[in-house]
Amino acid sequence: MPIEFKSVDFTYSPHSPFEYEALKDINLVIDGHGFSAIVGHTGSGKSTLVQMINGLLLPSFGAVAVDEEVIVPEKKKKYERRLIKDKSASIRTKVLLEFIQTKQEYELKSIRKKVGIVFQFPEYQLFEETVEKDVAFGPLNFGFSKEEAMNKAHIALEKVGLDKSYFLRSPFELSGGERRRVAIAGIIATEPDILILDEPTAGLDPQGAKAMMDLFLSIYQKGTGIIMVTHDMDIVLRYAQEVIVMKEGRIVERSTPIELFGQDNEDFSLEIPMLYQVAKKMIMAGYPIDIRSLKSEDDLAKMIAKGRK
Ligand SMILES: Nc1ncnc2c1ncn2[C@@H]1O[C@H](COP(=O)(O)OP(=O)(O)O)[C@@H](O)[C@H]1O
Ligand SMILES: [Mg+2]
Repeated sequence: MPIEFKSVDFTYSPHSPFEYEALKDINLVIDGHGFSAIVGHTGSGKSTLVQMINGLLLPSFGAVAVDEEVIVPEKKKKYERRLIKDKSASIRTKVLLEFIQTKQEYELKSIRKKVGIVFQFPEYQLFEETVEKDVAFGPLNFGFSKEEAMNKAHIALEKVGLDKSYFLRSPFELSGGERRRVAIAGIIATEPDILILDEPTAGLDPQGAKAMMDLFLSIYQKGTGIIMVTHDMDIVLRYAQEVIVMKEGRIVERSTPIELFGQDNEDFSLEIPMLYQVAKKMIMAGYPIDIRSLKSEDDLAKMIAKGRK
């Protein structure tokens, strides 16, 4: 299920002293079946971008299409009329209009069913008195019976590694990491086609982060598309098929992790994965390492072994 951004601008608090243009002319297609990473400095617009995918924020200009449904700044017909009337319409506006006309008006519920989003620090958004009620909230909201919703909640909780003993506890007596798992289960329980994760491993210890990533990998392997915002370049290298780099509200690069880290990308001032830091040192020390096909520690070991023969 593809997601497409067409000429999207987004401004926070327009016409106020706090006005801030967070996204500028975003054009992007994500096919929705893969594992995509979004990286970039704090403030580059990553969270803003992903929140537009499920209609939480509306574009100030432009359109975001989820499958056949299109999210625009106002009612679709009205927006189309406004674009048609625009005497000074640029090519950009004309292309946008044509795009919107091929799509249908979005329905928030339908979008939310397709796209599940786990916010940054989701553990602060729990509110029910028991873990199972919190997780069942989503499915209930989508019209499942109490029993079905509870059943989905239990399955989702098991998936995130929280067994029966957690079901009836209060979310507020759990650790931060456990609460985050509850919040993630709440989204998984709604069985979205695409799962968006905004810095899901931030603040977790390395083992907790690894367990979390293994969970997302298994969800992905069962057919859910993943879009993940992260600061962790080791995660990008290990898990993502493609990486989108943002800078100051724009998309400045899109490639595979290997291409991105293999090249000199000082422009983007991104961290380099540990594996590449090691490999670059080894190349300087004279080892014959082909950095353009380096994905794992195993690859590095093989390249070293081959060089020794
Ligand atoms: N509610 C808001 N009001 C005004 N400005 C905001 C708001 N939320 C975010 N911003 C600003 O928009 C920019 C992009 O923010 P964000 O998308 O959260 O970046 P990132 O997730 O890449 O760190 C930042 O400069 C941020 O300060
Ligand atoms: Mg953010």
